[in-house]
Amino acid sequence: MKTKHTTHKTLFHSWAMMAVAALTLFLGAAGNSWAQKAEGLALTPPMGWNSWNKFACDIDERLIRETADAMVKSGMKDAGYQYVNIDDCWQGQRDAEGNIQPDAKRFPSGMKALADYVHGQGLKLGIYSDAGDATCGGRPGSRGHEYQDALVYARWGIDYVKYDWCNTPGMSAEPAYTTMRDAIAKTGRPMVFSICEWGMSKPWEWAGKVGHLWRTTPDIYNCFDCQFNPGFSTGLGVLRILDKHADANLRNFAGPGHWNDMDMLEVGNGMSEDEDRAHLSIWAMLASPLILGNDLRSMSESTRRILTNPGVIAVSQDKLGVQALRVLVDGPLEFYAKPLDGGDWALMFLNRSNQPADVHHDWKKQVLGDDLSKRSVDFKQAVYRWSDLWSKKTGDTSGKLEARLAPHSVLMLRLTGPAKP
Ligand code: GLA
Repeated sequence: MKTKHTTHKTLFHSWAMMAVAALTLFLGAAGNSWAQKAEGLALTPPMGWNSWNKFACDIDERLIRETADAMVKSGMKDAGYQYVNIDDCWQGQRDAEGNIQPDAKRFPSGMKALADYVHGQGLKLGIYSDAGDATCGGRPGSRGHEYQDALVYARWGIDYVKYDWCNTPGMSAEPAYTTMRDAIAKTGRPMVFSICEWGMSKPWEWAGKVGHLWRTTPDIYNCFDCQFNPGFSTGLGVLRILDKHADANLRNFAGPGHWNDMDMLEVGNGMSEDEDRAHLSIWAMLASPLILGNDLRSMSESTRRILTNPGVIAVSQDKLGVQALRVLVDGPLEFYAKPLDGGDWALMFLNRSNQPADVHHDWKKQVLGDDLSKRSVDFKQAVYRWSDLWSKKTGDTSGKLEARLAPHSVLMLRLTGPAKP
């Protein structure tokens, strides 16, 4: 009897365990089915504009409307830019129910009306919040209001949420960002989720399932080769961001739907034209989102032409989504390669110095290879044609590549081939 009783007990125990396991699996699956980030968004690096770099807290609904107008009229929309993103300082106070309200002086018509306007231009609207109690600019953050805020954004018709990391002592990034991901998912409205914790918790290791892009570095500073340390934060120039990005092997973590974010662009904000071209080329090669940071309403024709260069944008938006590899460093000259969909390659020679530098590139000396995408080309076996994406010159890989690069400039090529014999 004792044995029988024990057998029954054991059997009952096993059934109970199985039932619990099945329930857990069911609940887990049900949980997962709504708690995923929206898939199919950001299959290529997002392109748009953000208010922060140029306007900081000096923003209002008129600026956002005029920027949307300018994005259409200037041809930026046709070039692929689609998000109009409001950064910090749009918030007023929460109402009696805790719903976040826009600053009534600066956004008197409200966010729903603004989203309708932007959508009417065929564009999308982005907004900004922070995982802590307050944003970096001291406005209300989303801590403790994540589900409520996400719901409010969805009702307004928001398409993109940038989520910052100021005022978060004692908090961990992964769970905090996961809460907001779940909150956004629960609304049922697809919104791009942009993680902005400056690379501090190595987000590339966990953020692929949480967001569509994650900042890898501190804020960009509007210069090519400098760093700004005002005491409380660091601003990095273009080359400093590139170095943090290219050295850390981050490319293994990026791909369609999940990108390393090198921060918003400073093109058109005062660097030289060569520097602006290099800045955009680097961001395109490294598959970083292209979020403009200049005043689209008053940009010069040369800035507009730089930002709408179709060949460079095609490299950024290539659907293979592989981040460029730094192949060679030769003093101030560096050489980057990005495999593209369909067998093409994008190549970039960068002159970091403030003196001209000469490129003498013998194609046949080295096999061009990328372990990540498992692609290689031996130029002794195959001739590729190239086109210079900035000067529009063309050539092929049968001879050497000779070029003089101006200070702080790039030579960016698209390689197509192999040529038919
Ligand atoms: C942080 C972010 C910036 C910007 C500001 C706004 O510094 O990294 O991109 O959003 O906050 O206060």
